[in-house]
Amino acid sequence: MNVDRSMRRMLATALVGSALFIGLVTVADAQEAPPPTPEDQKDRLAPFVPTPQNVVEAMLKLANVDKYDRVYDLGSGDGRIVITAAQEFKAEAVGVELDDDLYKQSTAKIAELGLQKRAKILHANMYNVSLRMATVVTLYLLTSVNERLKPILERDLRPGARVVTHDFQIPGWTPEKSEIVISDFGVSHTLYLYVRPQ
Ligand SMILES: C[S@@+](CC[C@H](N)C(=O)[O-])C[C@H]1O[C@@H](n2cnc3c(N)ncnc32)[C@H](O)[C@@H]1O
Repeated sequence: MNVDRSMRRMLATALVGSALFIGLVTVADAQEAPPPTPEDQKDRLAPFVPTPQNVVEAMLKLANVDKYDRVYDLGSGDGRIVITAAQEFKAEAVGVELDDDLYKQSTAKIAELGLQKRAKILHANMYNVSLRMATVVTLYLLTSVNERLKPILERDLRPGARVVTHDFQIPGWTPEKSEIVISDFGVSHTLYLYVRPQ
């Protein structure tokens, strides 16, 4: 019985992986999350501080993002990571943003660029979103927020999924690589690449 159940789980994981690989799953399938409640709005865990554009590109390169990836940016701000992943790296990309104005602004930008087939922003609290479809997760959040996200990442991400964090590490995880990038404004940023174990 247990063997049966674990076989079924392995098969389901393989099917999701294959569907992503051959493009059967699109951003339209990104699981909708409940819209933020007033309680969620109190869960604003980090202010909007955008990642400089050359650092965004370095984050996506560090994770080796390509057209077979599904990138999730948790706390997606003005959508720059999602837009760059879809536009330049040809990935499917999903952002999750709590703030009403940033959600509307980034959704409008995606429509203006005609990227709706590959990019989407969910208006939600990041803690209510399933990451099961993600092959790459990007985070520019505080260490304490990363710590709180850790059980969700460990629950949802498949083996081999990559997580790239900007400036703040995930406590208790060992990065496979780290990299210092100097922004176009001359400021130093540290990036960390984590790979979920097999
Ligand atoms: C430091 S900014 C990073 C923006 C973007 N990821 C980037 O790197 O340019 C953090 C973002 O997280 C959003 N945020 C904070 N708490 C959140 C939550 N609980 N759920 C979803 N988004 C949240 C903020 O509104 C803000 O836009």
